[in-house]
Amino acid sequence: MAILRQRSFYTVMNTSTLDMPEPSPGTILCVVGARPNFMKIAPIIRAFRAGPEPIDVRLVHTGQHYDAEMNDAFFSQLQIPRPDIELEVGSASHAVQTAEVMKRFEPVVDAESPRAVLVVGDVNSTIACALVAAKKNIPVIHVEAGLRSFDRAMPEEVNRVLTDQISTLLFTTEPAARQNLLREGVDDGQIHFVGNVMIDTLQHCLEQSIPAAETLAGQPGCELFLGGESGYCVLTLHRPSNVDEPEVFRSILDTVRTVSESIPVVFPVHPRTRNRMAELGLQGILESDRIACLQPLGYLEMLGLISGARLVMTDSGGLQEETTVVGVPCITLRENTERPVTVDQGTNTIVGQDRAQIIAVMHDVLQNGGKRGRVPELWDGKAAERIKQILNDWLPQVN
Ligand code: UD1
Repeated sequence: MAILRQRSFYTVMNTSTLDMPEPSPGTILCVVGARPNFMKIAPIIRAFRAGPEPIDVRLVHTGQHYDAEMNDAFFSQLQIPRPDIELEVGSASHAVQTAEVMKRFEPVVDAESPRAVLVVGDVNSTIACALVAAKKNIPVIHVEAGLRSFDRAMPEEVNRVLTDQISTLLFTTEPAARQNLLREGVDDGQIHFVGNVMIDTLQHCLEQSIPAAETLAGQPGCELFLGGESGYCVLTLHRPSNVDEPEVFRSILDTVRTVSESIPVVFPVHPRTRNRMAELGLQGILESDRIACLQPLGYLEMLGLISGARLVMTDSGGLQEETTVVGVPCITLRENTERPVTVDQGTNTIVGQDRAQIIAVMHDVLQNGGKRGRVPELWDGKAAERIKQILNDWLPQVN
């Protein structure tokens, strides 16, 4: 796949005429690239820029995600400041995308000489920017470190393992992460259990979330989703393991169709998934007045939609955590999870692609309410503040 966007403030071919903002010595460069990064960076920037003892930060957006629905909506709803630097890499194969982020990020690091580079999550932009910084002996701070699915076929697992190996400070969301990191040889003193910045954003935005009735208004048959006794199920799907293999994807969609006979399904469709459905000619399976296929939703719409749902079926990492906090049963359409606390303490059940199991959990939800959980330790909306406190103690020691 070709790179969709080439223009950049920091294009490698054109370093002599860079349209660069003035460097800000002593800054921390914070990196975002793809949709799940935006919810994680928002509370960090807010906390760092607030007094007392603000931390100077600059925001770099790699442009891994660029569609209005995948990008712009999140910046405005989460009140993330406009990125100081945009790399505009766009979509490509993993190797090309990762390499392109690295090529475009390197001159930024040279120009800015940051005190540290802060990366979040596990997307290609995370490992690409961490690698550039580490090779220049600039400390890497990884937020959401130590999560492991133990499935190296997952691109995110490779990104997580490698990013953690080259990070100086590792902030974790759940206790299992520390054990994973210790086993991989990370020093205990580098690891800080601070809670979950994704949940900081959820807590911050819950009151402003947009009710499902508003999001679904205008959808054909919307009263079916809102007024029916069964409530509705929210579905999201985008993992390569679910949508790349035609037979697997077809079988999941067949199961969704069966689920929809018991509970109507609202499906905001990721662009990658929409493309695959079209390529494989699978759209017909979901043609039903009990299934609403929507464009990807903004954060506040999605939060309203899942809070009001009876059930969520997903292969997303973030939704496993968010459903645990809002107390809605979650069926995870994967063989494993890197977020075990959502299973041990939360509302999450891992079912893979097993049709019988999916239907069984769905019936349990409809008949008995499904799995009930509790909110994990430190998922209290204050993770970013804890990170700031630790950095304010740490920064004077490194520079
Ligand atoms: C990426 C992350 C994944 C995260 C997901 C959330 C990696 C390896 N994967 O997966 O961990 O859960 O984001 O969405 O970093 N596309 C668009 N518009 C966009 C973005 C993507 O049309 O704004 C389409 C393109 O066809 C692209 C495809 O989606 O090739 C996949 O995008 P990509 O960023 O490569 O991976 P995601 O599947 O979004």
